Amino acid sequence: MTDTLDFKLTKTAHSRLQETDFDNLPFGRTFSDHMFVADYADGEWKNFEILPYGPIAMSPAISALHYGQAFFEGIKAYKHADGTVSIFRPEKNAIRFNKSAERLCMPTLPEDIFIQSIAAVVDLDREWIPTKANHALYIRPFMFATDPYLGVTPSATYKFVVILGPVGPYFSKALRVKIETHYTRAAEGGMGYAKAAGNYGASMLPGRKAAEEGFDQLIWTDAKEHAYIEEMGAANAMFLLDGTLITAEAKDTILDGVTRDTVIALAKEWGIPVEERKVSVAEIIEGAKSGKLTDAFGAGTAATIAPVGSFSYNGEEYFLSDPKTRAFSNRVFDTLDAIKYGRTADTHGWNYIV
Ligand code: PLP
Ligand code: COI
Repeated sequence: MTDTLDFKLTKTAHSRLQETDFDNLPFGRTFSDHMFVADYADGEWKNFEILPYGPIAMSPAISALHYGQAFFEGIKAYKHADGTVSIFRPEKNAIRFNKSAERLCMPTLPEDIFIQSIAAVVDLDREWIPTKANHALYIRPFMFATDPYLGVTPSATYKFVVILGPVGPYFSKALRVKIETHYTRAAEGGMGYAKAAGNYGASMLPGRKAAEEGFDQLIWTDAKEHAYIEEMGAANAMFLLDGTLITAEAKDTILDGVTRDTVIALAKEWGIPVEERKVSVAEIIEGAKSGKLTDAFGAGTAATIAPVGSFSYNGEEYFLSDPKTRAFSNRVFDTLDAIKYGRTADTHGWNYIV
């Protein structure tokens, strides 16, 4: 840890807190009063500032808009019953933030600056953290290229921004999922492991087509054969097959999820065998048919633990057990929930206290 981060602070003259309906918080539409901003220029990070949330003026020629030098993170802060505020495992996001930066030829940000900037703005806007069950303050740090230059070359200047917003659950029901066999999210040598904005842009058309067919989510398969399961929408796909937790290994086509890592840690503690390996569509379908697939869910910060209700593959739909009856994912959800909201001891040191 370096010294405490020095930043300029301009508080809003008018808080929107009282106007915000905390009983109606669709994901990603409500933003708190303040944001953190920093600039990268001349080879260093500078101009650290917290200011009222609002528009950022920029040139229409910035290379982020044209060539996609942009990426983000997703983290959540929670309020405990005694008022304590904690952020879940931000040091993991700080590391992943820099992996994304390196892949996109963008500057890294010292991990302690990443964490302190987030903690500072969360601290200032702590009244924005919802206290209802399944609710949290979503933290969205991101970086984008700001050179007003149309040459295809890495920008020399960048902005780092952290915005916050109170959120409820991302998914409200068991998901009807389509196993995608045409489009690809990530190929080997690509940038699937980075939280690059472009990865999400590329997912919109397949996602919309799946939605038009009545599905809630896509399961991405490998780019070469479409035979192995990679991820589930914006979450890692995890399965309990014949008593073993299986998930795709975190290689270059997979986002190395913090929730995924957390679920694996809990499973190991509980004596459940864990395999991080290629997961074939065939074994999942077989498991669904035989009943050996006792759990299937997406794991992610926004998604939390999102149960799969059914899979569709090549026009055939396979239904899984009622999510309420699934011992593993319910135990994971309840255990994590108790840790995040401070109802149980944080023996892993996962809560960063603000
Ligand atoms: N995979 C993708 C593509 C994602 O966008 C996310 C969401 O962040 C995840 C997995 C889950 O990662 P995490 O648990 O760190 O949020
Ligand atoms: C997150 O879980 O934080 C994500 O980034 C998912 C988001 C794209 C909705």
